[in-house]
Amino acid sequence: MTEIYKIQSYSYEDRAQDLLNRMTIEEKVGQMCQVDGRKEPELWIKDKNVGSFLHIVGEEAIRLQKISSEETRLGIPLIFGIDAIHGHAFYNDATVFPSQLGLSSSWNTDLLQEVAHITAKEVILTGLHWTFSPVLCLGRDMRWGRVDETFGEDPYLAGVLGAAMVKGYQGEKLSDPYSILSCPKHFAAYGETQGGRDSTESDVSPRKLKTVFLPPFKAAVDAGCATIMAGYNSIDGLPCSANKWLLTDILKNQFNFKGFVVTDWNNTGNLYSLQKIAPSLKKSCEIVINAGNDMIMTTPEFYDNAVELVKKGIISEKLIDQACLRILLMKFKLGLFDEKRYPDCSNSNSIIGCDQHKNASYKSALESIVLLKNEENVLPITNKIKKIAVVGPNADDVVAQLGDWSFGPRDFPERSTLEYNKYDTTSIVTILEGIKKRAGSEFEVVYEKGCDVIDESINNIDAALKISSDCDIIIAVVGDTIVLNGETRDRASLDLLGRQEELLKELKNTGKPLIVVLINGKPLTIPWVKDNAHAIIEAWNPGMEGGNAVASILFGDYNPCGKLSISFPRHVGQQPVYYNQYPGWHGGKYADLTSEPLFHFGYGISYTSYEYSNLKLASYELDTDDELLLTIDVKNTGTVKGTEIVQVYINDIYSCVTTPIKELKGFARVELNGGETKNVQIKIPISSLALIDSNLNSFVEPGEFEVMVGGSSKDEDLIKAVFKVL
Ligand code: NOJ
Repeated sequence: MTEIYKIQSYSYEDRAQDLLNRMTIEEKVGQMCQVDGRKEPELWIKDKNVGSFLHIVGEEAIRLQKISSEETRLGIPLIFGIDAIHGHAFYNDATVFPSQLGLSSSWNTDLLQEVAHITAKEVILTGLHWTFSPVLCLGRDMRWGRVDETFGEDPYLAGVLGAAMVKGYQGEKLSDPYSILSCPKHFAAYGETQGGRDSTESDVSPRKLKTVFLPPFKAAVDAGCATIMAGYNSIDGLPCSANKWLLTDILKNQFNFKGFVVTDWNNTGNLYSLQKIAPSLKKSCEIVINAGNDMIMTTPEFYDNAVELVKKGIISEKLIDQACLRILLMKFKLGLFDEKRYPDCSNSNSIIGCDQHKNASYKSALESIVLLKNEENVLPITNKIKKIAVVGPNADDVVAQLGDWSFGPRDFPERSTLEYNKYDTTSIVTILEGIKKRAGSEFEVVYEKGCDVIDESINNIDAALKISSDCDIIIAVVGDTIVLNGETRDRASLDLLGRQEELLKELKNTGKPLIVVLINGKPLTIPWVKDNAHAIIEAWNPGMEGGNAVASILFGDYNPCGKLSISFPRHVGQQPVYYNQYPGWHGGKYADLTSEPLFHFGYGISYTSYEYSNLKLASYELDTDDELLLTIDVKNTGTVKGTEIVQVYINDIYSCVTTPIKELKGFARVELNGGETKNVQIKIPISSLALIDSNLNSFVEPGEFEVMVGGSSKDEDLIKAVFKVL
């Protein structure tokens, strides 16, 4: 019989089906397995026809790919996956970008697409084809350890930025030389577990899911994402990988997702060992197949169990076929059967971590940084300043600066043994290094760490005060660090730990201008800092060029324009403080604390200021299939050029179910010279104002809507108008 699967002129679908027809049950189940490539990889390829490896990279990946494509019965190539989350940051020499939370403060889809494209290039050049990114969970409880990996708290912003990253990773088509598979994750509501306790139960109704947590994934599916990862968490008692409604009915059938679903790390085993909804591993395997998972990440026992389940007729072979077909199709689309896509290593050194990519990292750090306070224009630093004190535990700390999913020494045993963890940190520019470099001989810079991020027994505050005593300005770099962020790193307190606040208070007592630079994975509860620092720069985990970017902002070479994609609580007990709250709170505040966040979603200032006026709607009565066209004048009232992020929020004034007091529905980035005014136009499809009613129906309810436009989600910053949907 003609080997159609080998003939390029046939469609990918025909080739995948032809190949599937030739496969044994064992071979099909093997394709569904993704295992750790460091454990008996040859055995997995030759005896089990494994479909995918993760967490190996470079020469070893190429060697294994050759074995799989050239030495197995059907020559099916492997897909190699990796967590290239903010750059290919597990790989020595790669470009490390700011964390996803940092990047989201840019509100810049072009930038996100470029970051993802560069990452894809670097990933493919090391022999891999798939990154487990972007994260589309929402960061709504700051105690959760993985807030740094999110695009913040808003479903619309997460969807738009996520779609941009999907496009950046996957390019025009998957077979393009620099395209890789994206993997939006963790499906779904994984960031919403109670108390921020990672991977436990997310107490959300189907209506809440559809309203808040699924829309970013729908945006990613519409952008053509090739894969999606199921979350660790449970929803209403069902772990995501056991949830047929979620994976099959919603994702595959309603969203029309054509790619494949991968479980998270040992989701299958967890059903038995942790979540206890299966009394045996075999039962776990049966459940995940029935639910609609296609690839099983790191549950090696899946192979034998699934083969047995099919052979005994407990599982229908049809389900295995469907899963396997989805995986094969992606392999064809990636071009792995035709071009093989072995990396051109002669080329890799000139591309991975090249100057152009580093420059993109610098640019993305500039746009990720949010200026939160600048009393009496203490910034930027002018040449009236002669001597600068840099203090604080995060001023010169590579690990805190890069954050999670980079080369740092996180104490996951499986990560710390990796070869590629031996990262050469000389290419990372710390905040101190960046300031020194920018200061040159024009300014004198002195440094003292002062204290530790966590350990209270480290107290060099006196030394910090001493070096600050004859300085003109103090830059204190504080925040959190790697052991306070990421999986298994949920927090009960969001305060600055160790002696950091004490250090800041002592520095404030010197009477000198105090600039606080925050290096942190998530919003912290820092009311004292807000009230007392003269300026605050939120730099998040700003990546390898973070020091240069922070210095450029401190010295006014760049006018900051980042806006918060996440609200800062004042106190941990005030959570959640996300801006899109539901109405109806009796009293509207706590008896002992305001309901106001410390810093609002969408907030961020710059070295100039903007004035909004003249909000007009092209029409004040619209049909459900119309687009709302609004215009507003935005004026740069200062002298410095800047970029303002204009935000549009909508409120459905009366509705059959309670709807949020405001929801972001559009935004635009506007560049304005000093004194310049632009008339900004923003379009919003009325269909995007649909609500989900109690019966899970989605529709736009006729009636009045309020539109609010401005530079943050704070009421005082918004100009309002009302329109009617007929
Ligand atoms: C577990 C994490 O939850 C997920 O985000 C990651 O992609 C996988 N491990 C693979 O490392």
